[in-house]
Amino acid sequence: MHNKWYKDVVVYQIWARSFCDGNGDGIGDLYGVYDKLDYIKSLGVDMIWFSPIYPTPNCDYGYDISDYRNINPEFGDLEIFKKVLDGAHERGMKVIMDLVVNHTSTEHEWFKQSKKSDDNPYHDYYFWRKGRGKNGKNPPNNWLSMFEGGAWEYNEDLAEYYLHVFAVGQPDLNMDNPKVREEVKGILKFWLDMGVDGFREDVITFISKKEGLPNGFPLPVATGYKNYVNGPHTYEYLKEFKDDVLSKYDCFVVGESPMVNMQRALQYTTEGDGQVLQMMFSFDHMCADCFMIDYIPTPFSLRKMKKAFSNWQNTINGTGWNSLYIENHDHARIISRYGSEKYRTESGKTLAAMYMLQQGTPYIYQGQEIGMTNTHFNSIDECLDVATHNAYNIFRKFRFSEKFTMDKINKGTREHARTPVQWDDSENAGFSSGTPWFKVNENYKQINVADQENDENSLLNFYRKLIAFRKDNAVLMREGSYNELMKSSKKFYVYERILGDEKLLVVANFSEKPCTFKAPDGYDLSKGELVLYNYSDNKLENNSYTTRPYELRVYKF
Ligand code: NOJ
Repeated sequence: MHNKWYKDVVVYQIWARSFCDGNGDGIGDLYGVYDKLDYIKSLGVDMIWFSPIYPTPNCDYGYDISDYRNINPEFGDLEIFKKVLDGAHERGMKVIMDLVVNHTSTEHEWFKQSKKSDDNPYHDYYFWRKGRGKNGKNPPNNWLSMFEGGAWEYNEDLAEYYLHVFAVGQPDLNMDNPKVREEVKGILKFWLDMGVDGFREDVITFISKKEGLPNGFPLPVATGYKNYVNGPHTYEYLKEFKDDVLSKYDCFVVGESPMVNMQRALQYTTEGDGQVLQMMFSFDHMCADCFMIDYIPTPFSLRKMKKAFSNWQNTINGTGWNSLYIENHDHARIISRYGSEKYRTESGKTLAAMYMLQQGTPYIYQGQEIGMTNTHFNSIDECLDVATHNAYNIFRKFRFSEKFTMDKINKGTREHARTPVQWDDSENAGFSSGTPWFKVNENYKQINVADQENDENSLLNFYRKLIAFRKDNAVLMREGSYNELMKSSKKFYVYERILGDEKLLVVANFSEKPCTFKAPDGYDLSKGELVLYNYSDNKLENNSYTTRPYELRVYKF
């Protein structure tokens, strides 16, 4: 019997600070989430993933944790968290937490202890090293951080540097220290015993650093990354977490895995004793409109996107398991990237069906279901995110103009994903009765939940239909093969899902201009049932049709 429930769920991601403010202080919180549980359930999703909701000084908005066993007071406390957890469970939804253990906050007690002296028991929880050169004033190696200049920060009292692969306020934990791994297991147990259903593990492919921390090839950012991405003990440590804790619970773990390749993903997610994660987040398909990172834009390439999706579908199929997503808190809004703001609803529906009908577990990021789009930042002062400031500083350091730099920031910043959710057309988009902590997108009067609730053809209601379709066709979605057709097309993304006699043909058009779609060999479209679409009046002529902008048709046979 199939009991891998994680294969049938749809996950909704909440970045709580911008979701809904329940107590009127301008910051989204768990009271707001509690109020919206029925809304979340109404989408048809089965699971909520909370981006970090623990105490934090917010240098990376929660991804710098100062206490792993509590709730950020800006969001509430353990009592309201338990109410949310119970409320979700009562509605048949599971809840997973973000586990951020590549690093802590510098405000975490372990770090405070660790910097007291080099014989403090917590000193070896982190990577403290003497500097190089005369008087030890040069950092221990040439690594650059992802978020804030050099990867080493000097501590005068200790006359040592600590490693931070991300921001200065995010010191890396030394996972080679068995005591640190015991701490991680304790954290896992703490939340699982409270009743949470699993974890999304932040940058889990970074947790093991190469011995000796050797220099890396010089780059403008992240020099040295090859010495900690997919490091030597990553699998071993994940296996330990699984064997000692996770395997004892009916839980679910998805690993965020920048720069992971498919072979490694297979090693981690293939079912059986060796499986250490249920699935991973890959990044390849998120680079179809940029070069390596979001701040170096290139024209959107449908072929690049299709190739990335198909590679993962074809390789993971039948052995491991894919996670499917097109938005999260780290990327600009997808309609503004891969779709069209002009044809927002149409392209939003096409994008939704395109990724959610593949094999894997789909994730939806807050606001994606109503087609929230990018906003505009007039100056870097309007941005609060450490990574965005870092990108800005690097461009400026290389003497790019203010205008050029802000253009790149506006293209790539993850701040677009962090504007408050647009609930209705009242002041502050119904997000808060106070002053929102971050700017509300000006288009909230046109794009909001309340409006779309009242419109049968809205994107919001399309997501509901799509999720319901997945449920009604659970076996086909789970087990059906994936086969891409018309691979070289620059206008269509076409694939089929087949299981026995059942067949689904997904035809997603990515062009504003009319194109002719001719049914692939062996298909008689007039015999299929049109199950999902984004225009009415879907005619066929000689087994073909002329598309309207971003037209979607999904036929079932
Ligand atoms: C990945 C998270 O998704 C991102 O938001 C965060 O800034 C980094 N990891 C560092 O924790």
